[in-house]
Amino acid sequence: INSLSTTQKDRFDKIVSLIKKSHKVVFVAAGTSYHASLLGVYFLHKAGREAQTLIASEFRDYANIDEDTLVIAVTQSGETMDLIDALKYARSKGAKIASVVNVPYSTVQRMSNISIEILAGQEICVAATKSFINQVILLLAIAKDCGYDVDLDKLSEDIKSVFRSEGKIKEIAHSLANSKDIYIIGRGLSYPVAREIALKLKEISYVHAEGMMGGELKHGTLALIEEGTPVISLINGNTDIISNTMEVKARGGRIIAITNQENKNIEDMADDVVTIAAENDASFSLLATVAGQLLTYYIAKEKNLPIDKPRNLAKSVTVK
Ligand code: M6R
Repeated sequence: INSLSTTQKDRFDKIVSLIKKSHKVVFVAAGTSYHASLLGVYFLHKAGREAQTLIASEFRDYANIDEDTLVIAVTQSGETMDLIDALKYARSKGAKIASVVNVPYSTVQRMSNISIEILAGQEICVAATKSFINQVILLLAIAKDCGYDVDLDKLSEDIKSVFRSEGKIKEIAHSLANSKDIYIIGRGLSYPVAREIALKLKEISYVHAEGMMGGELKHGTLALIEEGTPVISLINGNTDIISNTMEVKARGGRIIAITNQENKNIEDMADDVVTIAAENDASFSLLATVAGQLLTYYIAKEKNLPIDKPRNLAKSVTVK
């Protein structure tokens, strides 16, 4: 964050000014970076800006962009082939291109009119973890400058506080190690986090997982809930997610709540509670993700899996 008022100040100001000038913002990304961009949409909406995000590989068919659109690519490597292809298309439509990257001088950075770096340091493991956190922090900082009222001062301390729950998370991981399916539900800004935790469960813990909007459960997935089905519920003060979680509980689901709320209803319905010290929505998204990352790490460890190098996956996906 410090770089945004020092070494990267010019680029940061330019991105913010481009966002303010554009008719709309369209993020484009893949995998974990897509989940960060979903949060970016949420934050920019809170700042009163028009924004959406699209998966890079489907960009050509789902994007409606023109010269007044600012396309923001979010990428750790800056080399994801689907993303490069999407940006070529965006450029052919006359859109301006901005990017949020980790790897400097990468192809995406070179294709951009303006690019800002998350400065997360080299990320060697296949799973994107620290890059996600830093992407989200950068997107928060951008949204704050666009008018989102959010306090970023205590974020790093708050993130460290998640490790107070490490013992509890380890216990839960032990109990989940043989699970075949895990569902993660969230609403609002917890929805991208639910998707991100699910991706990590698949990628490093080799567990089938679905991260979804709490409100969508009753439209189909609830049929899959049986006695003992694990459901991780991300509860950040939204009362509707509590009702969604109760619906799961009523069908015998095993509830693991990740929450910053002190609420008797949550304690009563949850089989396990991981409490995080998030003081606002923005920090909830980061702290809940870190709790999820730790959980997936410990499940993978229980199963003796190659955490840094999961099978069939590459760090940088340079094929279509
Ligand atoms: O380098 P990128 O951020 O463009 O990569 C996008 C995805 O390939 C990447 O996030 C992938 O989903 C990660 N392995 C997830 O942990």
